Amino acid sequence: MSEAVSARPRVRQWPGVIEAYRDFLPITDATPIVTLLEGDTPLIECPRLAATIAPNLRLLVKFEGANPTASFKDRGMTVALSKAVEEGAQMTICASTGNTAASAAAYSARAGIRSAVVVPKGNIALGKLAQALAHGAGVVAVEGSFDDALRLVREIAEQYPVALVNSINPFRIEGQKTAAFEICDRLGGPPDYHALPVGNAGNITSYWKGYQEYREKGVIEQPPKMLGFQAAGAAPIVRGEPVEHPETVATAIRIGNPASWKQAEAARDESGGLIESVTDEQIIEAYKLLGATEGVFAEPASAASVAGVKQLAQRGYFGDEQATVTCVLTGHGLKDPERAIAVAPEHTTVPAELDAVVAALEL
Ligand code: F0G
Repeated sequence: MSEAVSARPRVRQWPGVIEAYRDFLPITDATPIVTLLEGDTPLIECPRLAATIAPNLRLLVKFEGANPTASFKDRGMTVALSKAVEEGAQMTICASTGNTAASAAAYSARAGIRSAVVVPKGNIALGKLAQALAHGAGVVAVEGSFDDALRLVREIAEQYPVALVNSINPFRIEGQKTAAFEICDRLGGPPDYHALPVGNAGNITSYWKGYQEYREKGVIEQPPKMLGFQAAGAAPIVRGEPVEHPETVATAIRIGNPASWKQAEAARDESGGLIESVTDEQIIEAYKLLGATEGVFAEPASAASVAGVKQLAQRGYFGDEQATVTCVLTGHGLKDPERAIAVAPEHTTVPAELDAVVAALEL
């Protein structure tokens, strides 16, 4: 090695979730690692938000919007694509409310294989659609719900040589569980409660698996109580039956018949937690609060976790103890710029003159 090269400072960076947690993942020396260096997302203390919604709590948010495609899906997709390529796949397919599509498209591009995504027409946020297209996915919108799209891609994957990368693919769950490891590693132990939005229920399944594995390995003693939140108009687990026409502003979790329903109930029951619903009004209130009080911009579905914690705090669920609660903010606010603008006050347009700008700013 020449002196000039050896004198260059070594790049020290996070290696992605597979290298970071290899011992916990179904990876062998024969697995080609497809990664965009996902994971190691910020775990942010939110004292101002806590003071507003639940003064007794130590509240932290796991900001999954900081992943390469700006949602938690990347953790699962790095493992799903690595295994798909190992098995010789030439193409991936998924149904999606948007984030899975963006992530599958990006990781397929990274792997050098094709991707196809099937989405519910008119109900996918603009940023997510832009991502899928930018990464070269074949995008098909169906006149139906996410549940219809999932049914269709399951059938297609049975009949055609394509790798299905929805969270019914067990490698997705394996990758996503690394977020639970990160939380324990950064906190120096588990939180008391772990809150997250629930849609197709893959993520609550993953986190619960991650916490349980850390307990089995003796890294933690007591896993947290799992607190899952569905949108009121798309709350099949809460209602105990599928919802045929799910509706919510939180399009990411607009799902009426979650694939991992049973596993979500197991996470709830085995942890001693709960799964409840929050209204769109509560979701939007939490969404605005996060942005305004902590400078954290998450998409509406993500805010369901914060809305849920507020709901529980208001009825005294957490008692007087200063419990540690982590809320997963599953996707970045920029995913859905239209919603951000729709819920904000209109901004003013004035002539390009000092007086006019100063007057408009009410300085
Ligand atoms: N939050 C966001 C931002 C999501 O995109 C999703 C799911 C969830 C929460 C719920 O997670 O399904 O594991 O319970 N999005 C999927 C998609 C359905 O297609 O992107 P889940």
